[in-house]
Amino acid sequence: MDKLKADLLAQVQAADSLQALDEVRVAALGKKGAITAQMKNLGGLEPEQRKAAGQALNAIKDDVAAAIEAKKTAMADAELNAKLLAEKIDVTLPTRPEREGFIHPISQTIEEVVAILGEMGFEVAEGPEIEDDWYNFTALNIPEDHPARQEHDTFYLPGVGEKGRKVLRTHTSPVQIRTMMHSKPPLRIIAPGRTYRCDYDATHSPMFHQIEGLVVDETTHMGHLKGCLIDFCRAFFGVDELPVRFRPSYFPFTEPSAEVDIGCSRKGGEFKIGHGEDWLEILGCGMVNGKVLENCGIDSTKYQGFAFGIGIERLAMLKYGIPDLRTFYESDLRWLRHYGFQALDVPSMVGGLNQ
Ligand code: DAH
Repeated sequence: MDKLKADLLAQVQAADSLQALDEVRVAALGKKGAITAQMKNLGGLEPEQRKAAGQALNAIKDDVAAAIEAKKTAMADAELNAKLLAEKIDVTLPTRPEREGFIHPISQTIEEVVAILGEMGFEVAEGPEIEDDWYNFTALNIPEDHPARQEHDTFYLPGVGEKGRKVLRTHTSPVQIRTMMHSKPPLRIIAPGRTYRCDYDATHSPMFHQIEGLVVDETTHMGHLKGCLIDFCRAFFGVDELPVRFRPSYFPFTEPSAEVDIGCSRKGGEFKIGHGEDWLEILGCGMVNGKVLENCGIDSTKYQGFAFGIGIERLAMLKYGIPDLRTFYESDLRWLRHYGFQALDVPSMVGGLNQ
């Protein structure tokens, strides 16, 4: 018995793989195994001897089974350790450089403008870039013979929509019309987006961006218009005491109309915002013309409102010192790396607006 036990335990220790260990198990504990064979012999013994031998065999069986289990666990541990060692990552290796994208200054500027006006309670509205003549011109009180309607100023598309000839919208103002036609006052919306005009030189691009603003309510007046735009200009340029001037102007869709200038200096060929005696025009605005309200089915004796339109490229050029308009659309990666923004710089009020 002692020899049997010693032999079997030695075989367990000698097994050098899970398969070899299993073979030992079968040879010892299996139906035809060594211990089983001994068990079968018990029948031929005297009862007293049978009992003692049976107990001894059972003890050997348990010991061998336990030794096999222990060996199995040890082997699995060793295998895992070897694997962990082989897969070890050297965290001191330098990382591979990763090219990150940049936010285009146009997108950044739109996000900033929307964040400021969003805080004032404006909601973002959208309209199509392919418009019908009526939304882009007629409803905005732009007369038939207005120069903006001429073929060489506006991109007309083939085909006629429900509301006149198809045009690429020349400004974001048609979003005012769509908003007033489809929802009831009080209204407070901004509409950023692409606009198109037949123009191309150092200061004009056939595609550019604007942001439109519209407020309509029963008590809205010019004081609200001024307060809103003064606050906006100061917040956008980050100058608390920025001088802001409202200069009388003309737009068919507003009455009265104004252009807004901010204080700047151009002394010694150096341009600075917020100081000095010079002025720079940055946007157009006015009280919504009663005819425009009526064109949209809003009672102009009950409601009044103000509107404004801002050129995004101009704001971006001024704030970030970008000298040439055309570079915005050249997709030059060196330019984008220089003037672009990291994703975290964006105050994310409107994720994904300018896709
Ligand atoms: N739509 C005008 C343009 O493209 C800009 C503008 C001026 C919009 C005055 C307005 C406004 O809403 O009130 O030049």
